[in-house]
Amino acid sequence: MAAALGALLERNLRPTWVEVDLDALAANVRELVRLAGGSQVMAVVKADGYGHGAVEVARTALEAGARWLAVACLEEGLQLRHHRVTAPVLVLGYLPPEEARAAVDADLSCCVFADETARALAQAAARSGRRARVHVKVDTGMGRLGIRPEEAVAFVRRLKGIPALEVEGIFTHLATADEEDLSFARAQLERFLTTVMALEREQVHVPFRHAANSAALLRLPDARFNLVRPGLAVYGVSPMPGLPAVPLRPVLTWKTRVAQVKVMRPGETVGYGRTWHSRGGEVVATLPVGYADGYRRALSNRGEVLVRGRRARVAGRVSMDQVTVVLPAGVEVAAGEEVVLLGSQGEETISAWEMARAADTIPYEVLVGIGRRVPRVYLRDAGAPRIEAVMTGFAGRGEGSE
Ligand SMILES: Cc1ncc(COP(=O)(O)O)c(C=O)c1O
Repeated sequence: MAAALGALLERNLRPTWVEVDLDALAANVRELVRLAGGSQVMAVVKADGYGHGAVEVARTALEAGARWLAVACLEEGLQLRHHRVTAPVLVLGYLPPEEARAAVDADLSCCVFADETARALAQAAARSGRRARVHVKVDTGMGRLGIRPEEAVAFVRRLKGIPALEVEGIFTHLATADEEDLSFARAQLERFLTTVMALEREQVHVPFRHAANSAALLRLPDARFNLVRPGLAVYGVSPMPGLPAVPLRPVLTWKTRVAQVKVMRPGETVGYGRTWHSRGGEVVATLPVGYADGYRRALSNRGEVLVRGRRARVAGRVSMDQVTVVLPAGVEVAAGEEVVLLGSQGEETISAWEMARAADTIPYEVLVGIGRRVPRVYLRDAGAPRIEAVMTGFAGRGEGSE
């Protein structure tokens, strides 16, 4: 990891960055593929690969055995195609009719639950001389997108009657697969299975059937059908604490470096609103990271970071671009010292779950919230780092902006 810092310094990138361990990611995907058994794995890489960088994650996941990718919207799918990712990609979210042409031309599989989208896709496909791939979304209890189960069979029949459409899949999404009580998740699966069986009975064949997010893949073998859609687990974070049926390795480490160290005098305060007061003698370090980078303001006076393998608590409010921590007694550091915001250092770890709890949120929001101005450093084969900055706003850096 020291090599990563060296490479960063060489490239003159800002001293707050994320390291993405692609070997850990590949190991996680291999575990999930093994767990999925006969079902194919669709790695969910929406929201820029849960903040890790969609393109690098996609390539690594495919190499490790994932067969499909999932994104939330057209732009995310186009980004993968732009970077020559040719694997099947499913757009999970709503596709407005005016985006149908671009989706078909990029050979993206699209989620459909209404005739309007299906018609737009069919027209776009007919115009391009192709077939549009669709996956029918069934709302079995999430209450968001999806056709109701009792309407699904007739809908699929209608779609199958449109020559320009290829009905590739049917799927649903579970609302409570990560809760202690799995009864509602089981009821959702029952509704989905009933729909799938009704299709079979009527000899309406749909090749792929899928329902499992990470939690369902880990906990509900009945949810696997012949395709599974893990997201969070790919990134090495368990969807609920104390779970994993498989060993997962966290992929992301978020680091910064000390900007300034100061010995405080009695009565002095730190930050906006003066919420932290010195008793005198505390050593505080200011770090060049703030809520504009996704270091959440809710961590004010609560969050912890790692310095020299020890925990240091946030002092005062998190600002837009800076945060200040109190160094533990006996830890002496100078400007430039490496600090871990999320991840491990020495024997200590700040997990995505820990940071999420301290900020009163969930690991998903912590990970996807890490800002685009934070460069991502991709590590493979420990110690041979490759850098790909994902900072669209900094074209002058000339680093892999998209
Ligand atoms: C439709 C759908 N499938 C799968 C996933 C992956 O979920 P998880 O990250 O919990 O595995 C998501 C993520 O929110 C999703 O929206």
